[in-house]
Amino acid sequence: MTEPKDNPLLEKLRAGVPGMSRRYLADFEISRISHRFTDVLVIGSGIAGLSAALAAAENEELEVLVLAKSSLEESATRWAQGGIAAVILPERTGDSLEAHMRDTIDVAAGIAEEENLRIMTAEGVERVRELVERGTDFDRNTEGELQLTREGAHSFPRILHRGDTTGQEIARALVEAALKKNNILCRPGTFAIDLLDREGSCIGALVANETGQLEAIWARQTVLATGGVGRLYRETTNPSVATGDGLAMAFRAGARLMDLEFIQFHPTTLYLAGADRFLITEAIRGEGGVLRTQAGDAFMKRFHELADLAPRDVVSRSILEIMKETGENKVWLDLGAIAEDRIRERFPRILELSRSFGIDIIREPIPVRPSAHYSIGGVSTDPNGRTSVPGLLAAGEVACTGVHGANRLGSNSLLEGLVFGHRSGREAARTAAGLPRPEPFPLPKPGKELSPEIVTNTPGGELDLADLLSSLKSLLWYKVGVERNGRDLSSALEQLSTWTAYPLAADFRDVESWTLQNMLQTSWLVTYSALRRMESRGVHYRADHPDRDDLNFSRHLAISRADF
Ligand code: FAD
Ligand code: SIN
Repeated sequence: MTEPKDNPLLEKLRAGVPGMSRRYLADFEISRISHRFTDVLVIGSGIAGLSAALAAAENEELEVLVLAKSSLEESATRWAQGGIAAVILPERTGDSLEAHMRDTIDVAAGIAEEENLRIMTAEGVERVRELVERGTDFDRNTEGELQLTREGAHSFPRILHRGDTTGQEIARALVEAALKKNNILCRPGTFAIDLLDREGSCIGALVANETGQLEAIWARQTVLATGGVGRLYRETTNPSVATGDGLAMAFRAGARLMDLEFIQFHPTTLYLAGADRFLITEAIRGEGGVLRTQAGDAFMKRFHELADLAPRDVVSRSILEIMKETGENKVWLDLGAIAEDRIRERFPRILELSRSFGIDIIREPIPVRPSAHYSIGGVSTDPNGRTSVPGLLAAGEVACTGVHGANRLGSNSLLEGLVFGHRSGREAARTAAGLPRPEPFPLPKPGKELSPEIVTNTPGGELDLADLLSSLKSLLWYKVGVERNGRDLSSALEQLSTWTAYPLAADFRDVESWTLQNMLQTSWLVTYSALRRMESRGVHYRADHPDRDDLNFSRHLAISRADF
């Protein structure tokens, strides 16, 4: 490996970073908290978590317990707009599994894991059929046949959708299916703080339960499906649950993480002061939407031959370039070329939401700018969801199967969560069926290895967490964003190392503070990974290393607690 030797900061940090070695966030006495036992514990209720739960629950002898930190429906899954890709009707479209694989590999910038991709495309067909059988009501034509649309870089129509609320429909169907199963128990409002392990094997999780009490859940097998990290950034399409808890928990438990530098930015997010950063789906540009400057210049043709349908990373960088040129903090998405009826039929939620902010998208352009959208990297898994920690599986956005390589094709993420969620659940059930109950055990006091001293977040205490959160999000946005360089990444990492040394060592007692600690740790890991990859590849663009360097970096970069 060339990187650590070339960068003294990375070398220094590998010698140890205060706070990053912390094993458990909460200080607890195992004998003084309540306990519970389950067979398969699933942390997360998005497409990956519920697919895992439904697959595990096929063994009716087993109990499956699903946790969600908010409601069961609140997840990135619920907010998905464009759709889910699968070669479901090849005889009608001329599509093939090979074509789906080829399209995915073409954008993956040389590091897609082809065996996992083969599994995803092939098994995706059966899993999507199952979704339909479970009652997911995708759009159909007047003959009642499923409608398939084509999105950027997909060479055939293969995207199933439901208007611009596809994710909401999928989440509804999966939650209903899970609630119908007698052996699946769901506990919304339960926050997983840390994974519990004995001698390196995961045996459940420490949680803050619905009443805010600490509780130990002992499980034969645990599936992590906690979603992405978008909320680390000031600008993001992601819902409030996407704070990287799962990545931080897995890191603390010793799991191998991979490809964390690959954060995908979506080019078009509604940008209005005070309004939520609502995603404006790429499908709008697929239908004829055009990006313009305030003066009306359709600028994308200057940057790429595919103009507005250029790959997402190119469009995001081009928008930032235009914002620099014009001094504006946004660009405009003009829907003038799309028929009014088509807008009403295809994008009802965007129409309604924009209207609530006083914008009539049929007559006026939408103010947009890029924002953090999707984490390509995550907890490294094998094709059955197994991580490097025995007893721990992972699926969905928190996991990394390598199928997207360094750049994700639109609508492949729901498919990945569906397929590998199912595989993880099936594998967890298979293993759990042959294992005895894990025994509760005494844990070391988490504070003992910490330095500096433990501080407590008492009212009027020393830390202004709201200020820290806002500084963290700005730091990531400006220094670890769409366009990166070594100087900014190094200064961000030094700043994060200072922050991790203090608030990460603090002993907090509430979900908000634990979440911030997870965000600090995850931000540190993403920044460290981005500094290590001294080249540009896929969504990771380094202005100081603008070319792809296949000699040194045509591979995944892994990181784990043992590295520090
Ligand atoms: P999520 O759906 O995010 O679920 C995470 C779950 O983990 C939640 O239940 C949450 O409560 C729980 N959780 C998190 N932390 C904890 C904790 N500490 N304790 C307990 N529970 C916890 N992809 C596509 O393929 N097509 C699209 O059209 C598309 N559109 C998108 C639009 C938007 C606005 C966004 C944000 C993403 C979109 N994506 C799309 C990406 C895709 O939606 C996500 O990658 C995918 O839904 C992730 O699913 P998941 O099950 O891994 O995680
Ligand atoms: C979109 O609808 O533009 C987002 C689709 C995706 O992220 O896959």
